[in-house]
This record gives sequence, structure tokens and C-alpha cells, in this order.
Amino acid sequence: MKVLQVAAEVYPLVKTGGLADVVAALPPALAEAGADVRLLLPGLPAILDAVQSARTVIDIGACFGALRVRLLLGRMPGSQLPVYLVDAPHLYRRGGSPYQASDGTEWPDNLQRFALLGWVAAHLAADDADPAWVPEVVHAHDWHAALACAYMADHLPTPAASVFTVHNLAFQGLFPHHDWSLLGLSSRFMSPAALEFHGQLSFMKAGLIFADKVTTVSPTYAREIAGHEFGCGLDGVIRGRGADVTGILNGIDDAVWSPADDAAIAMRYDADRLAGKRACRLALQSALGLAPDDQALILTVVSRLTSQKGLDLVLAALPALVREGVQFAIQGTGETVLETAFRMAELAHPGRVAVHIGYDENRAHRLVAGADVIAVPSRFEPCGLTQMYGLRYGTLPVVRRVGGLADTVVDADGHGSAGRQTGFVFDIATPAAFEAAVRRAAALRRDADAWEAVMRRGMSQDLSWAGAARDYLALYRRAVAARAAAPRGIEG
Ligand code: ADP
Ligand code: GLC
Repeated sequence: MKVLQVAAEVYPLVKTGGLADVVAALPPALAEAGADVRLLLPGLPAILDAVQSARTVIDIGACFGALRVRLLLGRMPGSQLPVYLVDAPHLYRRGGSPYQASDGTEWPDNLQRFALLGWVAAHLAADDADPAWVPEVVHAHDWHAALACAYMADHLPTPAASVFTVHNLAFQGLFPHHDWSLLGLSSRFMSPAALEFHGQLSFMKAGLIFADKVTTVSPTYAREIAGHEFGCGLDGVIRGRGADVTGILNGIDDAVWSPADDAAIAMRYDADRLAGKRACRLALQSALGLAPDDQALILTVVSRLTSQKGLDLVLAALPALVREGVQFAIQGTGETVLETAFRMAELAHPGRVAVHIGYDENRAHRLVAGADVIAVPSRFEPCGLTQMYGLRYGTLPVVRRVGGLADTVVDADGHGSAGRQTGFVFDIATPAAFEAAVRRAAALRRDADAWEAVMRRGMSQDLSWAGAARDYLALYRRAVAARAAAPRGIEG
């Protein structure tokens, strides 16, 4: 099975969130399961610099406002998987994030930048870009790659099937209606039954409507987005796809997140050798200037600081929890109001609250290894990876029962599930509910044997990508069959 993975970011080259982790880990897991996998990425500077042995496959010439566009083929550093790059200096060779300039504003030409990515994917699928390799499945990730599904539907009969994965429905790729003509799609695609969304044009809808199969990154989020509360205005579209929308839970990359061979942490450990965990805990307290208190529960957060993540609950509960002896080790970047509030919390509680506003992978590993609990109190969470890092590192997750958090963390519910407990789960998004969950964690930690039993259970859980890779392969086969039976197009 030849599969093309299309995305805008990949760890460790370009990363704004968990999407990059998935795009780094899923392709090798698919290859391990027998698929012939290639990636297609935009030629962002960090990607162009790192990809090895890149050569030109085809000179595309001028398109989407760029004078010079080439398709390159090279190898990913590390996995050595083949990777196509869209080299369009005018559109991609610039600093900032893939989506925004350094001042936080969206790039004004994002429509052209991500239309081009999808357009090249569709041409690879149509066998007019690289005759040496034609994908049977194009797997597009998030709105950045979603237009591939519309271009493939506009150029029937492209035999390749399309699969679209929603990593976060809240980011939809909405653009002004009047930019429509830049896309080069047939006019029948600009209707409410296709890309039009309340007077704008939506890249997300291109994936949701025209992909042969749609997935999201956890079974619970797949159910949630079919409803009003989490549907971001697209729940009707999602319900319209019925059983074509499913959830496949992300894994985590054992090569990156494994306490037994993590070079970033003070001392390595695993479920049978927990001395390293205690050493990491002490090293963290010392490095962060937290009081060397063995009784204190150390709570960490490693997160984008945005309203999605529910960190206002942490801020509101923090003073009361500090009074009870909880220590906080926070790391994140994002909204100024949250950054400032966490900085102020640190000033107010010296020796109890340590805050790092910034992005630092190695430091994230030390926080996850050294803390007792990791809090992920999200308002919504398609999957969430850090709670799984916590499970892997014996750092018990305290999470809200939502999306992938609900699918990955099991609490003791008093009805016989104590033997399955891996963390602490609360329901309503209030400071009191979060605080109560943290108090339960602190209480359990006072019973060292019970605590270690829960730790070990999480640590020995299989969180690898192997199962998800098998599920995706089965889904690809269904997508190919569905495409052959009835390709998704549009009347007109
Ligand atoms: P999301 O993609 O919504 O941000 P995930 O939990 O899926 O949430 O993935 C977040 C990823 O980004 C994880 O790998 C996490 O460790 C990482 N991360 C987030 N903030 C930081 C930070 N400030 N420093 C280092 N890593 C971070
Ligand atoms: C998104 C989601 C997050 C998920 C990640 C990877 O960024 O917000 O929940 O884990 O994608 O799928």
C-alpha cells in the first residue's frame, strides 16, 4: 500500500504542537506495519535545511503567486523515509511559525501557501508529478493539507483514495470568499454543500466533505465533534458523513519519550527501577528552586497557553493548593494574559511555584520525569499527548473527562475500577473540581504502595503507535474500496 502523508509540520524540524509529533511518528509506524510511506511537506527553511539528499523531481514553474516552484524528493533525517518537499521560496522561505509571523498575525498569503500543498498532493495522486511513485492513499492532516481532498475530487477519476484527519476542529483555515478564484477549483466547489462556510471559504470543509474517510485523533473526540458543543459549527457536516468519521487514538513515540533511555533527564528509570524517578524529582526541585520537600506533590504543566487548555482552572486553584503544600512547575507559551498570570503566581509563591515561559523540549522531558502529577485540564482536547507522556514516566495525569483525555486516563470510580486506575479525572470545568482531583492525588501519594501501583500500571501500558498504525492501514483499505465503488465528487 503506497501512502502519502501530507502535513505542514514535523517534529523535530518544525513544531507548533502535537501534530508535529504525530507526523514524525505515524509514518515510521506505518512503514513498520508494511506500508510504502512517503511524506509531503512545505519547503519551510528548517525542513529544507534538514532533509537529506534532496533532488528535483519536477520543476513546476509559476503557480499560486510564486514564480518558482519545484517538487523535491529527499530523505527524512532519522527515519530515512522518503519525503517530498514543495520548494516555493516566495511562499515558504521565511521565519516565524508555519502559520504566523513572529508578531502572532496569520501570514496574509496562507490561502496560497496551503492550497499549493494540497494541489501538489493531488497531482502526485493523479500521477502527473512523479511517475516513479504514485500513492494509492493520500492522508491529509488538518486544514493545512485538506485542500488535497477537494482537488482530488475535482479531478476524477483520480484512483487514489483520500483520508483526512482532524487534529483540532477549532482551527479551520477560513479565508475571504473573494479569494476563491485563486484556488483554481471548479466553481461548483464554492457552495454551502462544498467549501463555503457562512460566506467564507473553509479549508476544513474540503477535508470533511471530500475525503473518502475522515478520522480524528480519539474515539471520544470523534463523537464529540458530531454535536453542537464541540462541533465548532461543523457538527452538521460531520453528522452528514455518518460512519465515515471515526476516531483512532494517537500513540506516543517510544524513541523520544521513554524514561529508560531518555538522555535529557537526571537518571534513567523504568517501572522496575524507580530510583531514577526519585532522582529526577530531587533534581527538578533543585533546578527550579522549589523547596526540597519530599511530602509536597509536584504538579507540572507543559502546554500551549491557550483557552483550549483550561489553565485558568490551574491559576484559580493554585493559591489554595500551594497552602496545602502542592508545588507547581509550569512551562508554556501562548496568550499574554496567561503568561502574565503564571509569572505573577511565581512571584507570589517563591519556592513553591516555578514558571518557565518558553518552548524547550529537553526541559519538558525533565519536568515530566521529575513531577508527581501532570495536569491537563482542557476545555476540549482532540487527543492530547502530554498526559500519555505522564503515564509513560510514572507522572500521574490529572485530566478533565473530555476528548482523548477521557480515552487515555482511568480514575478509580468507587465501582471496582481501582484496579485499573492510572490517574485522576474530573468532569466539570471549574477550579473546585480541578482542586478536588489534585487533592485526591495528594491523598493517594501519602500511601506510597498504592501510589506506586498506579504509577507502574500507567508505565507498563502500551502507548506505542503500533496499534494505531494497524487501524490506519485497515482504514486505508476501506477508503480505497469506497473510492473504487463511488468516488466523492460534486454534482454540477
Ligand atoms: P496540542 O497539540 O494541542 O498543543 P498535544 O498534547 O497534542 O497538544 O501536544 C503538545 C506537544 O507540544 C507535546 O509534545 C508537548 O510536550 C509540546 N509542548 C507544548 N508546549 C511546550 C513547551 N512550552 N515546551 C516544550 N514542549 C511543549
Ligand atoms: C492537536 C490537538 C491535540 C492532539 C494533537 C495531535 O494539536 O489539540 O489534542 O493531541 O493535535 O493529534
